Amino acid sequence: MNSVAWQVRKKLIILLTSLICLAVLDSHADEVDDGSLEQGKQLVMARGKGNCLACHAIDDGKLPGNLGPPLLSMRLRFPDEEALRAQIWDATERNSNSRMPPFGKHGILNEEEIDMIVEYLYSL
Ligand code: HEC
Repeated sequence: MNSVAWQVRKKLIILLTSLICLAVLDSHADEVDDGSLEQGKQLVMARGKGNCLACHAIDDGKLPGNLGPPLLSMRLRFPDEEALRAQIWDATERNSNSRMPPFGKHGILNEEEIDMIVEYLYSL
């Protein structure tokens, strides 16, 4: 085989290998995303941790309370992610009489948990 054909072959092999690696990395990234979305949902629905359902109607959550507004169309109503995060971190910042617990400020939920909840809320 002449050396030009060999060079071309080598480049093709490298290109194909890179594409396969990218595909594998990409599918893995999707798995990670789905995982935190699912965990965010669990935190929101769990009666122990967030217990958001006690006051908000959310998605397919059973027996919701109605002290707070239903959580829907979140991306439309909270285009600013920081504002949504701030509402969960400490609702009394926006409304000093809020009945919503200051989840972040009082350490009920940690930073990572609030991030997953925000991600889940943006899917509503
Ligand atoms: C004890 C009741 C209560 C619980 C529990 C509660 N909230 Fe709230 N939430 C409220 C009330 C009341 C409001 C109305 C605004 C205010 O008073 O701060 C509100 C407002 C909100 C808003 C703003 C909605 C809008 O349309 O303006 C978001 C977002 C929100 N809550 C998310 C959550 C999340 C996420 C959780 C769980 C981690 C949660 N809430 C738990 C009572 C609650």
